[in-house]
Order: sequence, then C-alpha cells, then structure tokens
Amino acid sequence: MSHKIQTLSGYIHEYQKSVLQPEVFWGRVAESFHWEKRWDKTLEWNFEEPDIKWFVNGKLNITENILDRHLFIMGDKPAIIWEPNEPGDEAVTLTYRELYEKTNEFANAMKAKGVGKGDRVIIYMPMVPEAAIAMLACARIGAVHSIVFAGFSSSSLADRVNDCEAKMILTSDGNFRGAKKIPVKAVVDEALESCTTVESVIVFQRTGTEVTMKEGRDYWWHDVIKGQSKECKAEIMDSEDMLFILYTSGSTGKPKGVVHTVGGYMVYTYYSFVNVFQYSIGDVYWCTADVGWITGHSYIVYGPLLAGATTLMFEGVPTYPDAGRFWQIVEKHKVNQFYTAPTAIRALQAYGLEPIEPYDLSSLKVIGSVGEPINEEAWHWYHDHIGKGNCPLVDTWWQTETGGIMVSALAGVIPNKPAHASLPLPGIQPIIVDAEGNELKGNNVEGNLCIKFPWPSMLRTTYGDHERCRQTYFSTYKGLYFTGDGAKRDHDGYLRILGRVDDVINVSGHRMGTAEVENAINEHPKVIESAVVGYPHDVKGQGIYAFAICDMEGRSEENLIAEIKKTVANIIGPIARPDKVQIVPGLPKTRSGKIMRRILRKVAAGEADQLGDTSTLLNPEVVESIIESAKNAK
Ligand code: WT7
Repeated sequence: MSHKIQTLSGYIHEYQKSVLQPEVFWGRVAESFHWEKRWDKTLEWNFEEPDIKWFVNGKLNITENILDRHLFIMGDKPAIIWEPNEPGDEAVTLTYRELYEKTNEFANAMKAKGVGKGDRVIIYMPMVPEAAIAMLACARIGAVHSIVFAGFSSSSLADRVNDCEAKMILTSDGNFRGAKKIPVKAVVDEALESCTTVESVIVFQRTGTEVTMKEGRDYWWHDVIKGQSKECKAEIMDSEDMLFILYTSGSTGKPKGVVHTVGGYMVYTYYSFVNVFQYSIGDVYWCTADVGWITGHSYIVYGPLLAGATTLMFEGVPTYPDAGRFWQIVEKHKVNQFYTAPTAIRALQAYGLEPIEPYDLSSLKVIGSVGEPINEEAWHWYHDHIGKGNCPLVDTWWQTETGGIMVSALAGVIPNKPAHASLPLPGIQPIIVDAEGNELKGNNVEGNLCIKFPWPSMLRTTYGDHERCRQTYFSTYKGLYFTGDGAKRDHDGYLRILGRVDDVINVSGHRMGTAEVENAINEHPKVIESAVVGYPHDVKGQGIYAFAICDMEGRSEENLIAEIKKTVANIIGPIARPDKVQIVPGLPKTRSGKIMRRILRKVAAGEADQLGDTSTLLNPEVVESIIESAKNAK
C-alpha cells in the first residue's frame, strides 16, 4: 500500500506536494486503481457554479476495484465479518470471492427486474451483509443507490423515494435492534401508498415477520437470486457518473440529496481510510455506524473494501444484551481498528468500567471518533479505558457532503490532542474566515470553517436542484465551500471544531434541521407556531428543544406535549423526537418578524440569566413568560 504515510515528516512532505500540485498528487493515487480508460485531465473546477470534475473522461467501475481486483491475491481473505444482533447467533464471514459472487448474483437479479445504469434504487435495510451487497450490486450495474436509514418513518421514506424517482426499493421483512423487532416492510408498504415510480420491491428475509407481498411488485431476495449467474459484467461508468445519493438535513425544511460520483469518491475514501486508520492487510477493522449514514458508506463499505480490508458489520446496538457488547465483539473478532461516535462513548461511560473488565481489548491498535465534537471527558475515558492509554485516538471531522474524512490525526503519525480534530489530510485546504469571508491566517484564530480547493470526494450537486447546492455551500463566501461549522486554530496550529453555526442540530452525531422538526410539529392540529433549538445534552451531545404556541382547548399541557413528540416521531422518525417541549404564549421576534433563536437557545440551556439585550424585540414582554414556563418543559 504505497500511499500510506508513516511518519510526521512524511505527512508534512505529502501535504506540501498535495497543495502545490494537487493534480499530480491525486493523479498518482488514482493510478493505483484499475481504469477501463485513463482520464484526460485530472481536475476541472470552479466554485461559482459550482462545477467540479475529477479524472475527466476516465472510465471505470468501482466494484472492479473492490471485487475483481482483489480476487487474485485475496479471494479467500475475509472481506466482511458480520456479527448478528444476538450474541449467541453465529457470525458470518464473506471472503472477497464470496462477496464478488453474491454481488454479481444480486446485480443480475436487479437487472432481470429492469434496473439499469442511471436508475435510482432506495435501500432501506438492516445492518446485514446484504445491505453492502445491495450497494455494490447497484454500483456494478451503474444504478444509483440511495440508502435511507431504516429508522426513518414512512413519510420520510416516501419523500426520498419521490425526490429521486426511485424505480426499486430493497428492504427486509423486519429488523432486529437489541431486544426489539421492527417491522420494516410494513413501513415500505405505507410509504408506497404515496409513491408512483417504484416498480419493484425486493425483500430480504431477516426476522420472519409476517408481511404482505404485493403480486407483481414485491419479491423475496432468496427467490430473485435463484438461478442467477455469479458473473456479471461491470457496467463501464464515467468518472463523474453518479455513484449514490444520500439525503441529509439542512437549515431549510426539506432534506437534500447529496450526490457523490464514482471516480473521486473511490480515490478519496480509499486514501483517507488507509491513512487515518493506518490499516495494514490482515487487520480487522470495525466501524459501528449504520450504512444509512455517510460514515457507513465511506468507512464500512467503500473505503475499507477498496483497500482490501476486513470490515466488521454489527447488526445490533451497544447496550444489548448489556453494555459490554462492543467490547465482547472486539475480543471475539480481535478487532484492530475501532471507529465509533462520541454519543456511544458517553452512553457507555455512564455504565462505568465494570462492563469492560471481562474483555481483552489488547488487539486494538487504533480507536476513532466521528459525528460531533468529542468532549474532553469522553475523549479521556475512551483513550484510557478502551485504548488503554496506548492507542492513537483519531478524532475525524467530516460531513455527508465531503464524502470522506477531512481533518484528523493520522493514527500514530500525527500526535493526538484531546478534543482536537487536528490537521487536514493531504489534499484538503481548510481555512477559517470571519463573518465577511476574510481569511484568518496564523494561529489562535476562531471563525467559520471553509475549504478553498476541491478534493476528489466532495459533493457535486444536490439531486435535482443544483441551485440549492450552490446556495447552501458556495454562496455564503465567494469562491469557498462553506461547511456550516465553526472552528478554531489553536496555538499549535491544530484545528478544533466548535459545532454548527447554522440552524442545524447535531443529535447523537446525526444532523437534524430545526426547520424540518418545526414543520413536523406544525402538523399537529393544535400547534399554531413552533421554534426548535438545540441544547446541551449529556449523552446525545445536543438534544432537541421545541417551543410551541398551541391552542389549548380540550387538552392538558401534558397530553399535548406527548402528542407533539409522537407527531414528530411519526413524521420524521424516532431520532427526531424532541427531548423537551415547552408550551409558550408567544415566541420572541425581531421587528421584521424573525424568531430570535439566540434567546430560545439560552432558555433551553438553562442560561436565562444571560439573555443580553432584549429591548429591540417586537414583543419583549413574552420573554418573561417563556423563562417562567421553562420549568414546565417536558
Ligand atoms: C457534521 C456533519 C461525518 C459523518 C457523521 C456526520 C459534525 C462530524 C465531527 C468531529 C466535530 C463533527 C459537524 C459536521 N461533525 N464529525 N469529529 N468533530 N464535529 O455526518 O450528518 O453529515 O454531519 O457533523 O458539525 O458539519 P453529517
């Protein structure tokens, strides 16, 4: 693996090269892959439109670089190790050859149902190897996958199906999640009542839950693969053809479909995986994310498999059957690299050290964190008790839109510093700007985090609405990609991410748009107006706090609060359920009618004594009663 940086001076050298000659730098990384036709030009770009093309006119199929390429020397090596929900059930290992065959077989089955290049396919599945097979099968035939986290509601699912006009849905009868069995196919059925583009649904049998199968539309996974060949010619794709769409929330109400393309995403997820985790062939790598999020795409499936790694997929949850489950799995499969989220660390921290004690964690070489800023306390707990003080802890900052890790230590190469994502990867040029977009150079500066030069795995557009992509990411500061995060460069030049500066809340490492939650709350017939903000939450990082003006007739406050929470869970999904709802007589507004969220954030955080000047409000009198009724929030 020639692209692995192994020393700090090596990092500095590579970083310089990547900035001085980005095309040469990325061209060299790209050369290690199999291309059907080499690219003519490494990069064409402008951040105005925006228009970004990497490896222009290069032709390839990403699955040839994941599967075919690894058959010769690594066909019998494990590609995926699957650990099921029940600790007593047997784990499954798929070698690269088995993954190749299963992918092709399923790709042929999808083709037989009329799916081909450019068609969109929604994946709404549990954490089973078939979810990865589904992704790769789409990529094999050039279909564009869009995974919807299986915890989203039927209406969230329907919105996404309709937005991308999906032709097929891949799902399961049900999901196991800890002690729960969740009926999944039923959610799909409900969603499909408001979708017209879906021609077929393929159902993977996992839980044995009874389902209704609609004649001519719904098929069992085990039936459609019967008799299919284990060879399927890879569709030749352009480097800039779509690989997948992934919906994510923003500051406006409707989630947007972030589009990633084949060539650049392949090059960057591979490169970042190998360097951040310092993966060596034979290591067992485990990322605890769900494939429904970008972390699952880039660092369970694509990055690791492109690198010929063994990637572990876990179906269950960290606390089932008990809070030692993660550590039991680390011991059982001798995991070498472990990558999880601060929210999971904090949740497990609350159980104390006892659940860790029975397990041998000495296989661990690298531990990682992703999804939100990791607080120092959680950092030290993770470092000391899981890493036993001698594993580098990589705090990886990135986003759905960036496709891959942007700022992180390279394990053991760049020294750790608690709660600091640290330094940019080679090829990544972050800058900190003030409110006017002036670059703040040097150390000890704080402002908004932007990226000033393209990198291969950046988003290309938002599906069906390029203007929205331009507006959201490229219009705040001319000529820059704006991340939506605040950041500080400390006295050592290390970056510390300070969190979102827009109307986005980060709940357990998942992004929630406040407007999206407000829209859902407003669906309740008794709600007149609402405002949602984030507040500090011990486990989730940020919790969802909703203020609602309601028509109270015929309802008790307590019932109404419960109903509002339920409405949100039904409309978006349980992950968006507000942690607290407060019924208020009014919302603080500016003279132009805009809600003053700054005030609401202070109330939600229990810092009503630090409100600052409220005299410019249209309705200053309302603030007193909001502070007063905060004690009734539930
Ligand atoms: C937002 C992106 C990247 C995969 C998971 C979330 C926050 C992510 C970190 C980190 C501080 C982080 C940012 C970012 N974030 N990682 N290591 N330190 N903040 O993906 O849903 O696209 O959310 O998550 O605020 O903008 P996402």
